[in-house]
This record gives sequence, C-alpha cells and structure tokens, in this order.
Amino acid sequence: MLKVGLVGIGFMGRGHLDQYLRLMDEGAGVQLTALCDVDEKKFHGQFIGGNMGNLGQSKYDFTRYHLYTDFDEMIANEELDYVDIALPTYLHSYYAIKALKAGKHVLCEKPMAINPTQCRMMIDAAKASGKKLMIAQCLRFWPAYETLKHYVDSGEFGKPVFCYFFRGGGWPKWSYQDWLLDETRSGGCLLDQHVHDVDTINWLFGTPKAVSTLGRNVNPGGGFDTVTTNYRYDGFIVNSADDWSMNSSDIPFEMTFRANFEKGTVVFKGGETWVYPVEGKAFKADDCGGDDGYYREICYFIDAVTNDKPIEISDNESTYRTICIATAERNSALNDGAWTEVTC
Ligand SMILES: NC(=O)c1ccc[n+]([C@@H]2O[C@H](COP(=O)([O-])OP(=O)(O)OC[C@H]3O[C@@H](n4cnc5c(N)ncnc54)[C@H](O)[C@@H]3O)[C@@H](O)[C@H]2O)c1
Repeated sequence: MLKVGLVGIGFMGRGHLDQYLRLMDEGAGVQLTALCDVDEKKFHGQFIGGNMGNLGQSKYDFTRYHLYTDFDEMIANEELDYVDIALPTYLHSYYAIKALKAGKHVLCEKPMAINPTQCRMMIDAAKASGKKLMIAQCLRFWPAYETLKHYVDSGEFGKPVFCYFFRGGGWPKWSYQDWLLDETRSGGCLLDQHVHDVDTINWLFGTPKAVSTLGRNVNPGGGFDTVTTNYRYDGFIVNSADDWSMNSSDIPFEMTFRANFEKGTVVFKGGETWVYPVEGKAFKADDCGGDDGYYREICYFIDAVTNDKPIEISDNESTYRTICIATAERNSALNDGAWTEVTC
C-alpha cells in the first residue's frame, strides 16, 4: 500500500483529492495519508472554482488525513512513499527536489517548471535519488488524445496533413496570491494553459525544428493571454491557439482538436471524438468509455511505483522538451512571430 502526501489543495489539488477518494473506494493500492497547504482555510472546505467548472466535491472529511501547513514538517513526520505536488508552477522544482532528496517518489503537476533550467535540476535530482519523477501532463492519459495518438502512430490514415489544437476560457482569477496572473510565477497562458497543447504536439510529432508565435497581452501581470503558434515539421502543418481572455461568464472552457490525415480526419469537440475516414462511415471513438485522464495518469504513476516500472508515457526528457518548445514560443512572440529554433 503506497502512502501519499498531497501538497497544494487549491483548484488542481482538489481535483487530485477526488481521484484519490475514488482510488481508495476502488481498493487501489494507495492511501492518501497527509495533506499539506500553506493556507489553512483549504482544510475548512473554503474552495474556489477554476476554469474547468467545479473539479472537486463541495464537502470533504478532512479528519481522515494528517494536515500540515508546512512541507518540511509533513516530510519529517510521515512515512510517505510519494508526494503529489499540485503547487503553483514557480514552486514545482523547489518542492519536487526537496521531496526527491528526502527519498520520496514525486508526481508533479504540469508544467514541469517555470523554465528549462529548473526542469533540468528536477531531472538531475530524480536521477541522483534513484526515485521516480513524473510530470502530470494529463493529455497523454486523456482518452480523446490517446485516440489521436493511435492514428498518428499507427499510420492507419496515412500521414498527417494539417492538425489544429485550441484551448480557451476566462482569466484564471482564483489562484493563491494571484500567481496565475503573474508571468514570473506562471508563465502566463503560454506556459500554464497552452502548454497542454504544446506537450501534446511534442508527444505526437516530436520536437519541431522551429516555432513562430504571435501573442497578445491585456493582463497587467504580464505574459501573453492569447497565443497562436505554427510549428515547423517536414511535410505537414501544425497550428495551435490558446486564449484565456474569453471572459463572458456564459462561455464554457473549451478544448478541441482537428487532425486531418491523408485518409481520414479525427475531430475532438464538445467532449466527443469523431473519426471521419475518407472511405467509410464516420463513427464516434470509444475513448476508453470516456474515463478521466486525471484518474488514468495517477493510476499509471501508482503502477510504475508499485511495480518499479519506468515512466514512459510522460517521460521526463520529453516533458522537459515541452518547456523548451514553450520557451522558444515565448521568444518568438517577443520577436513579433520570428521563426525561432527550439533549443534544449
Ligand atoms: N492538469 C490540469 O489540467 C491543470 C489544471 C489547473 C492547474 N494545473 C496545475 O496545477 C498547479 C496548481 O494550480 P491551481 O490552479 O490548483 O493553483 P491554486 O492557486 O488554486 O492552488 C495552489 C495551492 O497551493 C497552496 N500553496 C501555495 N504555496 C504553498 C506552499 N509553499 N506549501 C503548501 N501549499 C502551498 C495554495 O494555498 C493553494 O491552495 C499548477 O502547476 C497548474 O499549472 C493543472
């Protein structure tokens, strides 16, 4: 039975909490024993919503867990197998490295860290500790995106022709000390929200040779709140756009893709994946019965730790390259869309 400490009980930490409740109900080999959040109010159920609706349940029984407001105290007092980090991005590397040095495996929310240098420090710390580090790039475990990965890898529809990814919602106004609205702590929409699609593109097609990004900013915290990027690959076109300034309270969060291949098109929209073969009838993809990517990524990590398997799907070198691509995108946007090589 793996003992887990969950750090950061904000919007995403609450989402993870729900997954552990499900896993423990299902009798998975995991026990959430400790919760840590610097803001004690989180242990009194004072939650706020995020951009994807209410991820968490409204009521939790916090008496089930050992509660900490200090990470070091939690590490010193608990016999944890792994630490699940759902902290603001600028804190990922500091706490992941601390946990690894304390001999704990680490599951850490995306993006890996605020810049490639900090990512590299995390990878080095994982290697030195001999413990596992996995970045929760959830789309690699998201059924719709796995369906697309199948069509890319299998070549069933031939080669890709044009792929487009979009993600959008309102400004994230819920975060702890407004860290999300401050580019130095979150990387703006580019590193926080758009990074999901950057990571997907990297996972599907590998690192592009170069990127050209246009960005726009109306948020006083700096960074871009709207970006659109073209990625340079040989023989096909990939474009991705992100907008976190869709501020009407009536407009829902949206994530979508349209991937056109020589012999068919795959479209994810409104939570459904449709496959349109050039020859044959359109059909709705099964998408693992619609199961949850957040749940599936945690299951994968538990299995890797329990059975000492390598982390292959969300491999650290690959999720590190995602941050290198995002960094090149930022540099391109600051240079009015100039084609910018991706260097790692
Ligand atoms: N995978 C996804 O779809 C997804 C969605 C949203 C957020 N995220 C990621 O999850 C992470 C957290 O984002 P969020 O929206 O939950 O932010 P948030 O501000 O809602 O939550 C952060 C929590 O960390 C706590 N915290 C801050 N400093 C701390 C410290 N030193 N020790 C302990 N607790 C501390 C805060 O009190 C807060 O409860 C980010 O990296 C973000 O990119 C991922």
